[in-house]
Amino acid sequence: MRLLIASQIDGGAEAELRSRHDVVSRIGASEPDLAEAARDRHAIVFRSGVSLGAPVLHAPDLRLLVRAGSGLDNLDMQTVSARGIELRRVPGPGAQAVAELTFAHLLALARQLPRADRLLREGHWAKGELDAYNLHGKTLGVIGLGSIGSRVAELGRAWGMRVIGCVDRPSDPRRLEFARRGIELLADCGDVLEQADFVTIHVPLVPSTRGLIGSAELARMKPTAFLVNMARGGVVDEGALLTALTEGRLAGAGLDTHVREGEGADSPLASLPNVTLTPHIGAATIAAQREIGRQVVAIVDGFSREHSL
Ligand code: MLT
Repeated sequence: MRLLIASQIDGGAEAELRSRHDVVSRIGASEPDLAEAARDRHAIVFRSGVSLGAPVLHAPDLRLLVRAGSGLDNLDMQTVSARGIELRRVPGPGAQAVAELTFAHLLALARQLPRADRLLREGHWAKGELDAYNLHGKTLGVIGLGSIGSRVAELGRAWGMRVIGCVDRPSDPRRLEFARRGIELLADCGDVLEQADFVTIHVPLVPSTRGLIGSAELARMKPTAFLVNMARGGVVDEGALLTALTEGRLAGAGLDTHVREGEGADSPLASLPNVTLTPHIGAATIAAQREIGRQVVAIVDGFSREHSL
């Protein structure tokens, strides 16, 4: 099968694909470059950080798209459906890794790790100057309780937190199912924002979630609360977040996903000491990427056999 790899995947998986298929690699290329590279390809493997719009998806032989992860916000779904291109995702293996990085942000914010580290390297022993909080006993608010959000919620329970959350379509059966796992499903995300000491966001970026957390929503949070965005940059209004943080209406924020991403993309929040920033690495653990890679290879091999490509 003729394959285009548009994003970095596990090295072992790429080597396996190369051993059985005709592979071209254009990691993180611009959309026009991807369109050029995709012209004779049967399949594209991709992650976040590339844009797959109509120019790429109109490649005449294109039959399969493999999302080596979860989000589909960088894919023109209308063209995918119109052209009948098969789309396969591998959402499962990244969930634990994203949930663990969520806790890295929560702990870094609660214990001021970046500041403590910086001051110590500067030769200053800041013991006694660093306000710090336990996670235990606090309320964790999870916006979006899908595979990642519910894993974060379970970890929150393990840390001794009260865990509340909200979903797109709450129902009594779902409320009961979450209650069995010690998670309180609230009817309204606004109530989650108001009650939580730590809010984490785990929703896909779709039209209804773009700007989900803006100035009105931030105003509902406690001034002592922390916000962590592990979802997509567009879900949080970064300008409104910057204002809330500089005016002291929020204690701090952690962001793994940003409105502008990629080399040279600087965050408007980068100058604030009570903000932790990571470059969209939620799912980027060796174990998660190895398992995603294994599943990508299985999908490509299966499709190739089934369609004699
Ligand atoms: C995902 O949606 O799976 C994550 O953003 C991971 C990635 O593709 O880098």
